[in-house]
Amino acid sequence: MGEQVTPLRVGIIGCGTIAGQYLDTFARLDSVALVALADLAPERAVALAERVPGARALSIDDLLVDPDVQLVINLTIPAAHAEVSLRALAAGKEVYTEKPLTADLDSAAEVLAVADAAGLWVGCAPDTVLGTGIQTARKVIDDGLVGRPISATATMMTPGHERWHPNPDFYYQPGGGPLLDMGPYYVTALVQLLGPVVSVTGAASRIREERTIGSGPRAGETVPVGIDTHVTGVLTHASGALSTLVMSFDAVATHSASIEVHGETGSVSVPDPNLFDGEVLVRTLQGDGWATQPASAGYVGAGRGVGVHDRAVTSGVAPRASGAVAFHVLEVMQSLLRSAGEGRAIAIESTVVRPDPVPLSEL
Ligand SMILES: NC(=O)c1ccc[n+]([C@@H]2O[C@H](COP(=O)([O-])OP(=O)(O)OC[C@H]3O[C@@H](n4cnc5c(N)ncnc54)[C@H](O)[C@@H]3O)[C@@H](O)[C@H]2O)c1
Repeated sequence: MGEQVTPLRVGIIGCGTIAGQYLDTFARLDSVALVALADLAPERAVALAERVPGARALSIDDLLVDPDVQLVINLTIPAAHAEVSLRALAAGKEVYTEKPLTADLDSAAEVLAVADAAGLWVGCAPDTVLGTGIQTARKVIDDGLVGRPISATATMMTPGHERWHPNPDFYYQPGGGPLLDMGPYYVTALVQLLGPVVSVTGAASRIREERTIGSGPRAGETVPVGIDTHVTGVLTHASGALSTLVMSFDAVATHSASIEVHGETGSVSVPDPNLFDGEVLVRTLQGDGWATQPASAGYVGAGRGVGVHDRAVTSGVAPRASGAVAFHVLEVMQSLLRSAGEGRAIAIESTVVRPDPVPLSEL
């Protein structure tokens, strides 16, 4: 680990559902000091600030000009990501944003261009891929335990978030859906495991035109479905490996591994990329069963926000949860949906170098 002496001073904009997980992670770290919080609803910032010694609840404008804040963590809703990140960059702050980088490719490109011109770092979730689950799987592959990787499957199948989410409307409108909601975890993991993607072919369908809310005060109410709720496709990686992706709100359950990678001489079962750890299994042609791999890479005991820790402690390598990776992942997902609509393969214009692997490290 780096010789961190002075913590990176960060401010959070967006104090909703996910923010608490960041607070829990930062409370365990010396590398990051959370000094300020802000939200459109000021009482949410006040409530969270009470949990963090030394942190102040500020207005959004005040947080952006606060000289004590070096990096803004953007935990607003996807539709606000671009605006908030651009304002932070204009104020001279680095940015780490929740996924997706922004809601569309044009604004994502603008964020990266502005950051580049200003010499400021932009990072983006998911940072789950820096945990021991995906990093150990990557090390297994990089070390050649399964030979040359040929293919992968990535599977996320549920009956839909309206069964548990009290306000699921946005999941069923453009910008939502199984791919844009959950795809960032799976596609980012596939890029970690197999490298960048050069083309995609997608197909998509939907089983219903409306969904019935299953919990909360609106239970029984229906919401319209304006997007496809089953998205599938093939990603061609620059290496030649082919990944088959299935992201669905139109299935009851699945017994499949979240991700499997198949090499010439072995197969790897990869844990849920929405989590930081989990069991990595390997079966080789010579072996007689699936063998559990000990954690051999990644941040041990990581939680959401470890990408900011990685930014704070890395020296000599680029911070790993980068905006460049997030842009590539966003282009892959948007192109899959475009391919499904147009019925043809789409070439991916962006590319990215795989981030450096994470050595096995305690937080
Ligand atoms: N909820 C989850 O389980 C989960 C998991 C992983 C990632 N995420 C991501 O985290 C982000 C936030 O999700 P959430 O579930 O916490 O949403 P949320 O709606 O619970 O919270 C978002 C907060 O941002 C505030 N906000 C919205 N626009 C703003 C603006 N322009 N300026 C300042 N504040 C603004 C809202 O007032 C709200 O408090 C999203 O990008 C989402 O994709 C959520």
